[in-house]
Amino acid sequence: MTIQEKIAALQQQVNDIKAQNAAELEALRIKYLAKKGEITQLYEEFRAIPKEEKAAIGAPLNQLKQLYESRFREMKDQLGAAVAAATPREDLTRTPDPLELGTRHPLSLVREEIIDIFSRIGFTVADGPEVEDDKHVFSLLNFAPEHPARDMQDTFFIEKTEGEQKPTDVLLRTHTSSVQTRVMLNQKPPIRVLCPGRVYRNEAISARAHCFFHQIEGLYIDKNVSFADLREVLLYFAKEMFGEDTKIRLRPSYFPFTEPSAEMDISCDICGGKGCSFCKGTGWVEILGCGMVDPNVLEACGIDSKVYTGYAFGLGVERITNLKYRVKDLRLFSENDVRFLRQFKSC
Ligand code: DAH
Repeated sequence: MTIQEKIAALQQQVNDIKAQNAAELEALRIKYLAKKGEITQLYEEFRAIPKEEKAAIGAPLNQLKQLYESRFREMKDQLGAAVAAATPREDLTRTPDPLELGTRHPLSLVREEIIDIFSRIGFTVADGPEVEDDKHVFSLLNFAPEHPARDMQDTFFIEKTEGEQKPTDVLLRTHTSSVQTRVMLNQKPPIRVLCPGRVYRNEAISARAHCFFHQIEGLYIDKNVSFADLREVLLYFAKEMFGEDTKIRLRPSYFPFTEPSAEMDISCDICGGKGCSFCKGTGWVEILGCGMVDPNVLEACGIDSKVYTGYAFGLGVERITNLKYRVKDLRLFSENDVRFLRQFKSC
């Protein structure tokens, strides 16, 4: 077969080529135009053709190649459209699948519930630093200079910096009562605030103690505030938090910053007051400390104790959460074990 005849034969073939899918299309490419393809082969042969014949053969050969390329493109376009039609299009207007939401930390749930209860009777939230100083945590709160709470055994002190001679009085707050002092120094009565936050104590970590935990401090200062007001507010809180049948009892106690001072117990939420292991058989569980703000504290913070009186209370969020959700081991609150955390309300 002469080269002209081969070109003519291929022209016929290429006119009729068909591909049903991408694989067949690729097979055609290999058959005609790959290194050993039939059209490529003709170009090889063409190189050996004498110069004077080249023009007569080159033109149909190039036409053959162009024909093949245009047929190939046509089929490729058709296949592309068919493939796209068979693939379902994304609906970009569709709302996305719901994301898997996390759950709220039990301490956050309880803190928010407590804030909500007190905000209904006019308390607002105040904030203060966790890294504090002796003045706001102890001195202004009427702690004597030698009070054992200042001891390294109880309090984490921030180490003095290089070259500094004096021991530093910077420390991690041991209670949220420090926020009381900041509020009193900065605001004029009437004051009605709730101060939630994290506190630190130098304790060995166990099921019942941790080196950090959470408190909420309450402070109310105005003219004619009495212990009866304090009792009424605490009873309201206990009933809102633990149910209408909850009873409270106040036991005399001592805190440097309140006079008189008391500790408050509620009837045990777990056994209903009958006595269980949680309340150690007494039917009562202690949930907070409270009292009338000591006049020394009012004066130290620039409030005239002859005009104003006030009450304060401080409660442990972990303690309330233990009661509310029956969590027995304090360590669970900070271990971030999702098997524990997933049991609480989602966001
Ligand atoms: N600050 C106390 C503590 O950490 C709790 C407390 C007791 C706060 C009596 C008060 C209070 O405001 O009046 O143990």
